[in-house]
Amino acid sequence: MPKFQKHIFICTNQREPGSARGSCTERAKGDLQKLFKAAIAERDLKGRVRANQSGCLDQCEHGPTVVVYPEAVWYGRVQPEDVSEIVESHILNGLPVARLMLRDECINTVSCEHKRPRE
Ligand code: FES
Ligand SMILES: [Zn+2]
Repeated sequence: MPKFQKHIFICTNQREPGSARGSCTERAKGDLQKLFKAAIAERDLKGRVRANQSGCLDQCEHGPTVVVYPEAVWYGRVQPEDVSEIVESHILNGLPVARLMLRDECINTVSCEHKRPRE
């Protein structure tokens, strides 16, 4: 059995409502992992591409967060209507969806314009 060529990790962390950082499941307007799985199956990519649920990826303020490996492309504010574009453009054609990519300054930083200062 060949190895997977790509992994899509979809944060499905859910915090208590009202928590300071919020969480991806709270921000998502649908079941993103299910939608990615369906999009993969529809395009006959099963066995080559895997869409996995993930715990918190620590980019909560930019969520719903999705990361694609091995290229380590990070996406933020992903919603159901974006799923087929990511699969079609990035996964099938190798062109990451620029409008959804997290800026480098936003990843793993203590603060950015999207994060409220810690109290
Ligand atoms: S809750 Fe999704 S990145 Fe933290
Ligand atoms: Zn940011």
